[in-house]
Amino acid sequence: MTNLNIVILAAGKGIRMYSAKPKVLHELAGKAMLQHLLDTAKKINACKTIVVYGHGGESVPNAVTKSNTKFVLQEPQLGTGHAVQQALPLLGTDGTTLVLYGDVPLIQADTLLRLLEVENSLNLLTQYLDEPKGYGRIVRDLTSKIISIVEEKDATPQQREINEINTGILSAPTAMLRNWLSKLQNNNSQGEYYLTDIVAMAVAQKVEIRSTQPDHPWEVMGVNSKVQLAELERLWQREQANKLLSKGVTVIDPARIDIRGNLECEQDVEIDVGCIFEGAVKLARGVKVGAYCVLKNSTIAADTQIAPYSHIDGGEIGEACHIGPYARIRPGSKLHNEVHIGNFVEIKNSEISNKSKANHLSYIGDATVGARVNIGAGTITCNYDGANKFRTIIEDDAFIGSDTQLIAPVTVGRGATIGAGSTITKDTPAEELTLSRSKQISITGWKRPVKKKIT
Ligand code: UD1
Ligand code: CA
Repeated sequence: MTNLNIVILAAGKGIRMYSAKPKVLHELAGKAMLQHLLDTAKKINACKTIVVYGHGGESVPNAVTKSNTKFVLQEPQLGTGHAVQQALPLLGTDGTTLVLYGDVPLIQADTLLRLLEVENSLNLLTQYLDEPKGYGRIVRDLTSKIISIVEEKDATPQQREINEINTGILSAPTAMLRNWLSKLQNNNSQGEYYLTDIVAMAVAQKVEIRSTQPDHPWEVMGVNSKVQLAELERLWQREQANKLLSKGVTVIDPARIDIRGNLECEQDVEIDVGCIFEGAVKLARGVKVGAYCVLKNSTIAADTQIAPYSHIDGGEIGEACHIGPYARIRPGSKLHNEVHIGNFVEIKNSEISNKSKANHLSYIGDATVGARVNIGAGTITCNYDGANKFRTIIEDDAFIGSDTQLIAPVTVGRGATIGAGSTITKDTPAEELTLSRSKQISITGWKRPVKKKIT
């Protein structure tokens, strides 16, 4: 498509959201509705995208990516036609202009490309609905040519029976659109400049009017309330779950998964209920994710098992690892192969080599851990002195006894053993046992204190 402009109408109030946040910034699948549209605009290679904003002011442009995108303020907001008029100075005179609605976030590139196939006509995206209430109706003549769009509030009882509705999405040659918009009037029940009035003008000028329907009904569903936002969220999640299922991923319950970003799965991946995937997540062949895990911007290599209630953010996890239940892996962490991270273990900005284990109740932060290391229950790397952070190095085959504190910067030598309950402040030699604890003593004849009687 040569010289395509996209205008996104996003100035409306969204009163029924009952929120201080502008409607188009409410999130669907973890991303602002407006951002969904900007991403779709990018997919269909728009030359220029213009967002008409108003309600919510600068918070709208500030919340989204701005590459190839311009913003124009519509103040006051006098209707959809008036909104497109505000974009005219940026539209130029040639090419095609496509109008999208900020509160119809899931329109897909494939549908739009079909709508845009013919360049010299006015192209309307319409939809047949069992319950057309609230929408503008598509009025056709006896030869079923489109003759106008009538808003529900201006429609006759007969017209209200029409079940083909205007989704709002349309495209037209930019030059024609300019001409039509300059002639809009607001003599209707709402006193607004309706974009839809251009249809009757096109008819009068004998411009061809084509209509196309979306590939999926959810593509043109609008969001006017939190109820509709939640409904659309579930439809979209179901769609994503179905895509995974159809590629051979086992999603135990497709109604209980949330993908807020991009989840890539190889063969024989299994995902239990209640999991949330954020940002870019990759699960390699044979990975199993237990119930109620949250995975964000992470890659998990083949055959790794993640037990329930684990949280992995910014992790690079190797093959055949065992994570969780109740593990927390934070950004900057790289686990090599066959690593075990157990319950209530927190790993931050650390590298852990093959076959090492931290199975219970530990904090491993800013550490480099070698291969085959055993980190006992309750081990803590004390990486922070209140002002600066320091690294802990644990070399291959070391054994850290339970309840050890490693005061960084410190190095535990290769094959070293640390006695349980030690506070390690200096580097420990390879292969030797190091411990730092007071000797155990027993006091013979010692008596437990007894409660004094109040007299
Ligand atoms: C509009 C259509 C209707 C269609 C329906 C589909 C018109 C006159 N009517 O009605 O035929 O069936 O959408 O959902 O076009 N906006 C602005 N500035 C304004 C007014 C609106 O930017 O001054 C934006 C809103 O933020 C919203 C979109 O335009 O994203 C649609 O506006 P809305 O008021 O919801 O239009 P509807 O009455 O639903
Ligand atoms: Ca609407």
